[in-house]
Amino acid sequence: MTADATLAPPVPDALRIGPHTVQPPVVLAPMAGITNAPFRTLCREFSGGKGLFVSEMITTRALVERNEKTMHLIHFDAAETPRSIQLYGVDPVIVGKAVRMIVDEDLADHIDLNFGCPVPKVTRKGGGSALPYKRNLLRSILREAVGNAGDLPVTIKMRKGIDDDHLTYLDAGRIAVEEGVTAVALHGRTAAQHYGGTADWDAIARLKEHVPEIPVLGNGDIWSAQDAQRMMRATGCDGVVVGRGCLGRPWLFGDLVAAFESPGSAPAAPDFGRVAAVMRRHAELLGRWLGDETRGVVDFRKHVPWYTKGFAVGSDARRALATASSLAELDEQLASLDLTQPWPAHADGPRGRTAAGKRVVLPDGWLADPYDCATPSDDAESDTSGG
Ligand SMILES: Cc1cc2nc3c(=O)[nH]c(=O)nc-3n(C[C@H](O)[C@H](O)[C@H](O)COP(=O)(O)O)c2cc1C
Repeated sequence: MTADATLAPPVPDALRIGPHTVQPPVVLAPMAGITNAPFRTLCREFSGGKGLFVSEMITTRALVERNEKTMHLIHFDAAETPRSIQLYGVDPVIVGKAVRMIVDEDLADHIDLNFGCPVPKVTRKGGGSALPYKRNLLRSILREAVGNAGDLPVTIKMRKGIDDDHLTYLDAGRIAVEEGVTAVALHGRTAAQHYGGTADWDAIARLKEHVPEIPVLGNGDIWSAQDAQRMMRATGCDGVVVGRGCLGRPWLFGDLVAAFESPGSAPAAPDFGRVAAVMRRHAELLGRWLGDETRGVVDFRKHVPWYTKGFAVGSDARRALATASSLAELDEQLASLDLTQPWPAHADGPRGRTAAGKRVVLPDGWLADPYDCATPSDDAESDTSGG
């Protein structure tokens, strides 16, 4: 499909993350339980290797303790370059140690730090999106991270703040610049919003004006390549971070590359036969990564509703796909469906988590003083589940 080229947006500049050039400037958002090596591989295959693909969040304490599951999560495929790892930590010393370990053992080429997690069990302990409210704690973490990172670029990803009365992103952006952070990504929601409402792209524009020294990446509600281009035009941001739009749609990365490289062009949306082939490959890659076919197919189950969204699959077949335990069973179920059906237009748009938050749960007295030397409790890193 080719649109009127005179209406096409210009090709954006490359995004530079330290020594790494990201062209076009598109980044796969870290998503816990999703952006493991198999999913990143799928997205990369569609993008032709272009873009940046961030790992799911790794907790720093578990990393320095060499937790077995964590050591598996930090696995990158040989073709992944640069290797981009997201860390979540609340203790400056532990974050510093985790970063030093990554450098000493050559575990990654780029480190992103997560300050966006809104889930109550994390904010209750002063972690995630609650943390940037404590400016000095944020500064200490960034100082330790950058100080131990050697030549590796350190970036941060954050939300606007705790709620509309406690916005932190502009201060956090300034602190990031002062501490030598390479780039900042902003999800245009507060913790109080969780995933509800619409992302505030104006905030991304304000952050871009506020920290002109470093690249600003915009995040929130990019469901298509056109949304990504719109965000860049509307905010002046240097790149985009795409999360839920890729759930069950790893080919969005191919669309993004096509739209940025050949403005006005777009690959045809896949029919169900092509989607089924991607589902099969995703499940197979997960099995290889987990070292066990059944575990791979079981882990794949959560992706089924996203891949089948909008297609005439029927609840029984959808259930059968989401309870398959082997690739043969998955094949059999997929083969029984109408693979010729075209991409359903109503599968475009929002997908994944969309629920609004309730109250943000914080430690007692957390909001009293943004500048005190708070230290979240030791267990603030346990059981975290993304941003
Ligand atoms: C299932 C899921 C897991 C997530 N895990 C993380 C995470 O580990 N680290 C992080 O910084 N953000 C995480 N996020 C937030 C996304 O990276 C992103 O900021 C958010 O989904 C908004 O972008 P989107 O509108 O493109 O989805 C997660 C989001 C989802 C839906």
